[in-house]
Amino acid sequence: MITVSTLDELSTPLVLADRGRIAANIRSMQAVCDAHRVELRPHIKTHKMVAVARQQLEAGAQGLTCAKLGEAEAILPSGVRSLFIAHSLVDPRLARRLAAVAARVDDLRVAVTSEDQAAALDRMLASAGLKLKVMMALDTGLGREGVRDTAAGQRLARKIAGCSRLALAGFYTHEGHFYGVPPEELPSRATIVVDQLCALRDAIDRSLPVWPGCSVTARWIAETGRVQAVRPGSYVFGDLSLTHVCRVMKPADAAITILATVVDKPESGLALIDAGSKTFSSDRTPAGIHGISVDGRDLSVVRVNEEHGYVRGRDVDALKIGDRLAFEPAHVCTVINLTDEVVVTEDGKFFAVWPVDARGKTR
Ligand SMILES: Cc1ncc(COP(=O)(O)O)c(C=O)c1O
Repeated sequence: MITVSTLDELSTPLVLADRGRIAANIRSMQAVCDAHRVELRPHIKTHKMVAVARQQLEAGAQGLTCAKLGEAEAILPSGVRSLFIAHSLVDPRLARRLAAVAARVDDLRVAVTSEDQAAALDRMLASAGLKLKVMMALDTGLGREGVRDTAAGQRLARKIAGCSRLALAGFYTHEGHFYGVPPEELPSRATIVVDQLCALRDAIDRSLPVWPGCSVTARWIAETGRVQAVRPGSYVFGDLSLTHVCRVMKPADAAITILATVVDKPESGLALIDAGSKTFSSDRTPAGIHGISVDGRDLSVVRVNEEHGYVRGRDVDALKIGDRLAFEPAHVCTVINLTDEVVVTEDGKFFAVWPVDARGKTR
């Protein structure tokens, strides 16, 4: 546990979180949703922190989304009353824990992603004497979970109706493939996702809600006013995927940086830092970048080993051993899952340490 009061006292690598930027990102997404009367149900897999979930709920989020049951358990102290576990739950060993979470909230929903998965979920819930609302998944292009077309959705709806432990309560999709869509095509393609999900809903039960919307699409999708909720996750912090690849956030919105130290300069044009894949993760942008310096100098992490980052760029030869550099990471969700705590700053100064409560909660 970090117990100091200035950044200078801390050794690197460190994950820094800018409190003001987090608050601004939360406010801005909530304002778009409120303006269009769309519920915001942020995905907590990005931050995994009770402290951040509390801020999202205080700002007006109607509920939270989780990937795993372990995340749901870890986020309960936020005071959340409405939870959606957006994953294909099938393991009967999870039933008791799921019942315990259900008992602590007003509204718990889980995903139904295929007919066979629905049958497995129904058996699992029966073993715990539990009946739950389920959200049907539609695949809108990612190629992961969910029915592939309306006919399959209608068959799945009939299957759910025959499962005594499942009550169909809505439809969702995760359009994660939008991270590869050219920025100029994003608004029109987001509208198509809404069309697809509403078409499935209309063919099954017009009274049920649709919940699409990730950080790339959520604003356009909310603006259509045709959905009942959106579930973005990484908007809360931002990363190179959102600021430089999709360009749906500004670099000045990015709230998480990795502070690292130059530990060697083995040749001209190259500096080595003390943060590698165990801090940045192995995720990178399509251009192969793991992190970009946020101080305006041309310095990028272009390669990582476990405990080394390779920094290149026009300004690299001016660096000195011992210099400390802050980098915006390529993908923030994997960065947070690699650290026990983040160091929160305000106006560039140490503010607090927040534990990553759901770190590693993959079960
Ligand atoms: C089911 C589901 N919903 C929402 C999200 C949030 O996505 P993003 O972080 O792009 O907002 C994800 C991300 O993986 C997801 O898998």
